[in-house]
Amino acid sequence: MALTITWYGHSTFAVDADGTKIMVDPFLKPNNPVAPVSADEVEADFILVTHGHGDHVADLLPLAKRTGAQVISNFEIATWLGNHGVESAHGMNTGGAGTFPFGRVKLTIAHHSSVLPDGTYAGNPYGFLINFNDGHDVYIAGDTALTYDMKLIGDVGGADLAILPIGDYFTMGPDDAVIAAQWVKAKHVIPCHYNTFPPIAVDADAFARRLAREAGIDCTILAVGESVTL
Ligand code: NI
Ligand code: MN
Repeated sequence: MALTITWYGHSTFAVDADGTKIMVDPFLKPNNPVAPVSADEVEADFILVTHGHGDHVADLLPLAKRTGAQVISNFEIATWLGNHGVESAHGMNTGGAGTFPFGRVKLTIAHHSSVLPDGTYAGNPYGFLINFNDGHDVYIAGDTALTYDMKLIGDVGGADLAILPIGDYFTMGPDDAVIAAQWVKAKHVIPCHYNTFPPIAVDADAFARRLAREAGIDCTILAVGESVTL
């Protein structure tokens, strides 16, 4: 039983959960300036979408249509997908969880904004707390500020892995991400949403050192295209 996580740059991750392929926030080549692969080169059984901004959904429609993957997102984005020919979307809402073949997925609070690239209202932005069938609990924060709501995640068991944005400017930066990691009681952190564009340039190695020194939390800095197995 294993979870393999591959980073495609920005907030795009491919998770292989015992053979089930889950893509998070598909933003791939050439839309994503750092992604090593295009939407034609990846597979997905499920696609998780945190919110409607282009740097999270640019490749959503073509990937969902080609693969037939079920999209897990919120009501508004699922409705938009339905209006664009993708009928298989799960439209959840704040605090709700659903059981899927790979585990249980809950929509968590994210403080950010959200609108789809064509201007359609996309509801609230979210993160995901995923209890994988193999026992790993993974928190994907999405685009968010540091928020006290993260303490709730720590209170209900914490996260074996927290995937946190550290780029600042659009989301929390490294200072707040060090606090977030502690509030969600993360055993391990993978940072994202940095070094894609000039405004979100960050020294990720410095973040990892601070996390170890100030919080005693292990951090994996993935190179784009690199994988880690939990
Ligand atoms: Ni965003
Ligand atoms: Mn973003």
